[in-house]
Amino acid sequence: MTKVKKDYELSNDLIRTWSTFVPKQAATEVGKTLRSKWINTGKKEKEFKEKARKKWGFPYCVAVNNGTAALRASLAVLGVGYGDEVISTPFTFIATNTVILEQGAKPVFADIRYDDLNVDPKSIEEKITKKTKAIIVVHYGGNPVDLDEIRSIGRSYKIPVIEDAAHALGSKYKGKYIGETGKLVCFSLQVVKIINSGDGGMISTSSKIYYQKIKEIIWYGIDREAKKTNLLDPFPDNYRGDTLGFKYNMNDITATLASVGIEHYDEAAAVRRKIGERYRKALSNLRKVKLLSYFPDREPNYQIFPIHVKNRIKFANYMRDYKIMVNINNRRNDIYPIFGGERTDLIETARCDKDVVLLPMHADLTNKQVSLIIDVVQKY
Ligand SMILES: Cc1ncc(COP(=O)(O)O)c(C=O)c1O
Repeated sequence: MTKVKKDYELSNDLIRTWSTFVPKQAATEVGKTLRSKWINTGKKEKEFKEKARKKWGFPYCVAVNNGTAALRASLAVLGVGYGDEVISTPFTFIATNTVILEQGAKPVFADIRYDDLNVDPKSIEEKITKKTKAIIVVHYGGNPVDLDEIRSIGRSYKIPVIEDAAHALGSKYKGKYIGETGKLVCFSLQVVKIINSGDGGMISTSSKIYYQKIKEIIWYGIDREAKKTNLLDPFPDNYRGDTLGFKYNMNDITATLASVGIEHYDEAAAVRRKIGERYRKALSNLRKVKLLSYFPDREPNYQIFPIHVKNRIKFANYMRDYKIMVNINNRRNDIYPIFGGERTDLIETARCDKDVVLLPMHADLTNKQVSLIIDVVQKY
């Protein structure tokens, strides 16, 4: 059996599914931070949060060390714990669901929709029980879910909605950025994301109460920004010691990278948009390939470009013959023993688990490479 190479071992002439976008300015700015004598959470982290708030209209913003931490902190703020159920999607990177287990709760999987790979609101509603403590939705691939419909379900049953927006920085729903509205919206700044800080994350919230709680829970239950008047007490005046927290804060090295990323977001997003629009135009009427549905009231950021394809293993091998790499982003999560094993009622999830692959999508792709990809897919 041939061993599949790690991404970093692949030859440079291969067109990769993903890549890392690091603006030139990043090295200079990180150099300045490293020499500043303060690399822990500080000025740079504050600057990053302010920039993010202004750029995407977040009412309140908390920076964390990764997207998984953002999700777990959100569940913790809602008090999700042992005996609780959290309704989630099985079609996502496992982090969306491992955090539920970390909190001691049980993921209950709703089915997804074949057309856009997002969770099906009707299936969410069917899975609600007395034990349901929260709903997590993923804006899959940066293509937003129908927030109005899902929030309305949440309101009717008084169940809070967490948005896993790891893919959706800069995407829009009904004219507003993801994170501009919403009580707990979690982003990831991991290496292949549209902007990245090596690893990093943030939570946007419209609730001042949640904002205060999140600030505390991500650093041992302590609000680092709170007033301190006692010269010798290590903790701020309002520290009560009654909340168990995590160590999820973002340091200033990470924040510097994230901050430079924001300054170059438009550039990176424009490249993705152009590629996404080209793919959609050129690949929309093929027999063996089906594109996802994109809706007129939403703007995707094309974080990834999933397609449905007939016989995906054959397709992957065929693409590899042209030195084009295609990937499966994730398998349905329920099949893994940690999540309890394969569910039999996830009909659309089962279909997608057999035929979804990602076409290359990143800021390093040239026009010529995109033309080649289009040409090769058309010929399949
Ligand atoms: C949908 C989804 N949720 C959560 C995460 C976790 O983010 P992070 O890697 O920043 O912890 C990822 C990571 O890629 C993801 O794709």
